[in-house]
Amino acid sequence: MTGQARSATAAALLDVRDLHVEFDTAEGVVRAVDGVSLTVDAGEALGVVGESGSGKSVTALALMGLLPTPPARVRAQRIRLGGIDLLRLDPEGMTRVRGQQVGFVFQDPLAALNPVMRIGRQISEVIEFHGDSSRPEAERFAIEWLGRVGIAAPSEVARTYPHQLSGGMRQRALIAMALAGEPDVLIADEPTTALDVTVQAQIVAMVRRLCDEMRMALIWISHDFGVVAGLADRVAVMRSGRVVETAPVRELYAAPREPYTRELVTLARSNEIERAHRT
Ligand SMILES: Nc1ncnc2c1ncn2[C@@H]1O[C@H](COP(=O)(O)OP(=O)(O)OP(=O)(O)O)[C@@H](O)[C@H]1O
Ligand SMILES: [Mg+2]
Repeated sequence: MTGQARSATAAALLDVRDLHVEFDTAEGVVRAVDGVSLTVDAGEALGVVGESGSGKSVTALALMGLLPTPPARVRAQRIRLGGIDLLRLDPEGMTRVRGQQVGFVFQDPLAALNPVMRIGRQISEVIEFHGDSSRPEAERFAIEWLGRVGIAAPSEVARTYPHQLSGGMRQRALIAMALAGEPDVLIADEPTTALDVTVQAQIVAMVRRLCDEMRMALIWISHDFGVVAGLADRVAVMRSGRVVETAPVRELYAAPREPYTRELVTLARSNEIERAHRT
């Protein structure tokens, strides 16, 4: 070994350095993301928490090239995923990365699902696109996926349309669709916020279990520290477009350094107590 510097740590799966996003609006420039850096290792679950407007969604969308530019302006020192430099990819390459390496689940499943296509077919299309399954095989796998995300009677549900399902079922179907492409990382942006607490807890546990089984990394975005605490290995706390604190979840819970993190933890604790009293 010579005196040459070598990188001390193995490369992260996702490595983001100094991400900035601005929007040009009629009222002036909105600085939505202001120098965010984060890393996610293979198989790791990262929680991203922060109040409404702190830049969580814009960060996730910018990373994956999903923000229309203009009105957005995106720059970063580095955005790398699995060794690929996303800043240098053309739109076609970016679409390929999104289809093969990244799965997304957003808050509104109705917006993400095709209203006139049966649930099973939407999932089997992802499987066909991703691998070399025949259509009947893909349809069988789709039903398996619906079972794996905790849907009872999956063959029947596969034949339904999105509007025929409850909110929780739709969100599970959307998760099945995102996982069916076997991505390296799943990005979930407040997917359970609109659901009641019990369903939310079930879905959180299910996603965590499947990520572990598939050795898939997870980025779970939420304004609720309590949701993220039960799920993440590490948490990044965002405020006003910046990451103010990043630490393993236990550390943050036991000894938050930033006053803002302390507020979020206190709020999560009082919500827990309230929930315990209600049940
Ligand atoms: N298209 C846009 N044009 C102008 N400003 C925008 C646009 N999209 C987002 N913003 C602004 O960027 C900031 C960050 O928004 P973002 O949606 O990332 O917040 P968030 O943390 O996801 O909040 P929430 O918890 O409510 O989802 C906000 O001030 C928002 O108003
Ligand atoms: Mg958001």
